Amino acid sequence: MAKIAPSILSADFSKLAEQISLIEKGGADYVHLDVMDGHFVPNITFGAPVIKSLRKVTDLAFDAHLMIENPEQYIEDFVDAGADIITVHEESTVHLHRLIQQIKELGVKAAVSLNPATPLGNIEYVLEDVDMVLIMSVNPGFGGQSFIPQCKEKIKTLKKMIDDKNLDVEIQVDGGVKLDNLKEIIDCGADIIVAGSAIFGEEDVIEATKKFKNMQ
Ligand code: DX5
Ligand code: ZN
Repeated sequence: MAKIAPSILSADFSKLAEQISLIEKGGADYVHLDVMDGHFVPNITFGAPVIKSLRKVTDLAFDAHLMIENPEQYIEDFVDAGADIITVHEESTVHLHRLIQQIKELGVKAAVSLNPATPLGNIEYVLEDVDMVLIMSVNPGFGGQSFIPQCKEKIKTLKKMIDDKNLDVEIQVDGGVKLDNLKEIIDCGADIIVAGSAIFGEEDVIEATKKFKNMQ
């Protein structure tokens, strides 16, 4: 069964603690935290201080998706704030291998993300160093966009790369996942599903989370 990581990007920011307790009740596996800096992506969200405050209200694992420039300057802040998994974008750094080592040396899980147009070949030589690969299935920056269909082939190819090398690397898929395309995305090889608007955009967030867990 795939794990579910609801993205608080689509939650009500005036009551984040309450919103997180709803996904916890619904059986979510992670809280997906979309950090945007207005440079790497054309939107600004929140940073380490908000994550640090949220750390006090839940025991759910924190999955921090950093859509920022110069990520190497901020890794320590996000670890100190309580992130359990730190995902950096391949496109955001020249020294990806060094950045992955920096994350792992701080004792948290390291993941790398690819924008829709970025080839899988760009991470071939770091695949064995990461715990997870995040395939972006929309262009990062906003919730509520449509799933880009070519990403299905990308997920399948990545799954094959991981299996061929016999690696223990999870595949996360982020963007445009709804209940009606959930199963086919999991069948392509996704281990962890991010869902923002399809969970926090619903009237009953507990029920929406449960459906993502059960309708696989
Ligand atoms: C987009 C973010 C996603 C976003 C997904 O840049 O990385 O995590 O919240 O939102 P939905 O599920 O609405 O596409
Ligand atoms: Zn995300």
